[in-house]
Amino acid sequence: MTTVMATNSQLEKTTAEFRSLFPGAPKVYRAPGRVNLIGEHTDYNDGFVMPAAIDFFTWVAIAANRAPVIRAHSCQFKETVTLELALAGPPTGHWSDFVRGVASGLIIAGCKLSGCDLIIDGQVPLGSGLSSSAALEVATATALLGVSGAKLSQLEVVRVCQRAEHDFVGTRCGIMDQFISQFGEAGHALMLDCRSLEFRRLPIPRDVRIVICNSMVKHELAAGEYNRRREDCEAGVEALRAFLPGIRALRDVSLVQLEEHRQSMQERVFRRCRHVITEDDRVQRAAEALSRGDLARFGELMNESHESLRNDYEVSCSELDALVEAARHRKGVYGARMTGGGFGGCTVNLVRADEVESFRHQVCAEYAKSTGLKAEVYVTSAAQGAGEVEVAR
Ligand code: GLA
Repeated sequence: MTTVMATNSQLEKTTAEFRSLFPGAPKVYRAPGRVNLIGEHTDYNDGFVMPAAIDFFTWVAIAANRAPVIRAHSCQFKETVTLELALAGPPTGHWSDFVRGVASGLIIAGCKLSGCDLIIDGQVPLGSGLSSSAALEVATATALLGVSGAKLSQLEVVRVCQRAEHDFVGTRCGIMDQFISQFGEAGHALMLDCRSLEFRRLPIPRDVRIVICNSMVKHELAAGEYNRRREDCEAGVEALRAFLPGIRALRDVSLVQLEEHRQSMQERVFRRCRHVITEDDRVQRAAEALSRGDLARFGELMNESHESLRNDYEVSCSELDALVEAARHRKGVYGARMTGGGFGGCTVNLVRADEVESFRHQVCAEYAKSTGLKAEVYVTSAAQGAGEVEVAR
């Protein structure tokens, strides 16, 4: 189990919340949300992604209770539920589905769980595309394993959490969000191959900041459209297989091959595939650029990624485009793009450290002028993945 350091005050706050509701001395665990620097909608196509964990966490304080139940309290919803320590039934749409889904996944994976009391304090902005649900899943899994003394590899934890998202949230998500919440490393982005699950840690240069702009909108179609994009990619692979029998995913197809067989698929499916294939290529070139400290090139690739997501994959929206537009021509900005699934949520910007404050003011002002909305801006550093929390001295 990884140990992570935190300030005394946050640890005390979480412990005190627990003690106000439950007996016993809790252990505290946390898991981070994420931002994806580049490589969008590639994970479920066996492709490449480059996320970083961010310093917004879901905190879980937990202690064994000797009963065959999990008593779980959400600090956000101010509600306590009692769940049987058994395999979960169908989703109900309640927040406790996450706890049931993860606990039941751990049981299916062969873990013997103890009855326990836990509180959840989620601090990743909800519905913002920063993977608050992955943070909740991974924090819950890590805490349940910790209190039960059960062992499961970090990768299996990731898979249990991804499955909980499929079964309980209904999004057929890829592996990126849960993976980075588990494996994130402070100060680094991860270049992840979603087929082999091999990854490389890439240091974020000291003189730049990852700046996240929250559009504060979330369009309803997100989950449905996400699954439809996945179906389009599958349709593309199916059509191409007639000519390229060896392929398993878009990862195995080059742009030249796609263009050669353009007539075999609908125009829309062609554009979806073109996004995925060109995006995979961009992530690999971005990893090379970051390794040699070429932030200008990295930023150009981010910008190209946004255009491709907007025009070919059609997952951007007017608010995200407005934020990107407001950011692009600012001094000290290397690149700006939407991040995550799309249809609202956030943009990610790579900004020179000494320009961050003027960036914040100017982008917010311009966004307000063009949309009438008030953006939130988070200046983050790449954080450490999930673990048990100890006090930093
Ligand atoms: C969501 C999913 C991820 C990934 C991104 C798009 O965040 O959970 O698996 O597909 O969208 O890159």
